[in-house]
Amino acid sequence: MSEKDLGTEAGRRPRVLLAVCGGIAAYKACEVLRGLQKAGCEVRVTMTADAEKFVGAATFEALSGAPVATSLYGHPGSAIPHIDLAEWADAAVVVPATANVMAKMACGIADDCLTTTLLACWGCCPVLVGPGMNVHMWQNPATQANVAALRERGVRFAGPDSGRLACGDVGEGKLAPVDQIVAAALALLAPHDLAGLRVLVNAGPTHEAIDPVRYIANRSTGKMGFALAEAAARRGAEVTLVSGPCALATPAGVSRVDVESAAQMHDAMVAAFEDADAAICSAAVADYTPAAPADHKLKKSAEHLDAIALVETADILADLCARKGERVVVGFAAETNDLLAHASEKLARKGADLIVANDVSRPESTFGADTNRVALVSAGGVEQLETLPLADVADAILDRLAALC
Ligand code: CTP
Repeated sequence: MSEKDLGTEAGRRPRVLLAVCGGIAAYKACEVLRGLQKAGCEVRVTMTADAEKFVGAATFEALSGAPVATSLYGHPGSAIPHIDLAEWADAAVVVPATANVMAKMACGIADDCLTTTLLACWGCCPVLVGPGMNVHMWQNPATQANVAALRERGVRFAGPDSGRLACGDVGEGKLAPVDQIVAAALALLAPHDLAGLRVLVNAGPTHEAIDPVRYIANRSTGKMGFALAEAAARRGAEVTLVSGPCALATPAGVSRVDVESAAQMHDAMVAAFEDADAAICSAAVADYTPAAPADHKLKKSAEHLDAIALVETADILADLCARKGERVVVGFAAETNDLLAHASEKLARKGADLIVANDVSRPESTFGADTNRVALVSAGGVEQLETLPLADVADAILDRLAALC
């Protein structure tokens, strides 16, 4: 192999070594490989003899476009594949990690190509483990001790999840969802330029109760805020996400606080801001809430549903700005007209460091879209960005936030 030479190339794709073990979830490793490739990674594969009983090496060879390392001997292009692969990789991902392979990793046993390569990864690249096994095997104290030892040495874990297992048992041991494993792998690869920063994000709509059945809400889905939380965690920040009612999965490594109303979101944000270095208020917080929500379902004909008295909610962004000191606070301005004028007015009125202005009347930047077209408005001026995927918008916002911190 001439991979070591490639390591000096600027702008090359991130390289992931996928270590596939012999578990029923081995087929999911194919999806992990695809997910990594979609995210722009180059993937090489090593697998155990047991893994080959579940999925053939030919499958991984075809998907990765490279020979699969199944033996220390006779590997095409390399006399020492375990060292070449470990030095080639920017990260290694073990999927599905069996109890046996984790035990070998914990003890430093290297008795096949996969475990020898993982042993050689020490000092070369970070390792992510995605366990997949029966609940009793996972809960066995021996396995748990191995997990603790590996964590202690910096090995990262994605999952396992709880649920129905291949054997029919229900419990912990299920391989984590593919997208979660891919996200955790990408987090290992990303530059950790926000490491040490505690970032607070809010997202989604709020629900303001009229009675136990009805509420006032808005069209926010929370996608932008979740993308911000995900990107900040990927870049090494410690992230707290205060979420209104959203049907979105919690990004890997993010600690989530669920709230419903503007008042609950206000209290959660103010409390979490005490331990934060920066806050991003992307939530579409209700501006008004029913003054006196009913404790029973209102009857439409008799109980004045046509005249609900409303009171203004507390402005979370303004409150955080009032207590921010040297800390950085970023707000959003969702507008349908006079975007930049409204955004500049909000920057001054609320006292934020940066306002992310988006025109929600455009299809590419409206609620629920997977793209956004924003202008970044600060005391330094206005920067208009192109229409970008939400993850890229999030990174651009975090770049400005990092510069301000
Ligand atoms: N915001 C907030 N608390 C509120 C209302 C808004 O923290 N009660 C924040 C939003 O999270 C966003 C910013 O303020 O970061 C601007 O929100 P937006 O709805 O665009 O503006 P409003 O202040 O509500 O003003 P208007 O409705 O007149 O546009």
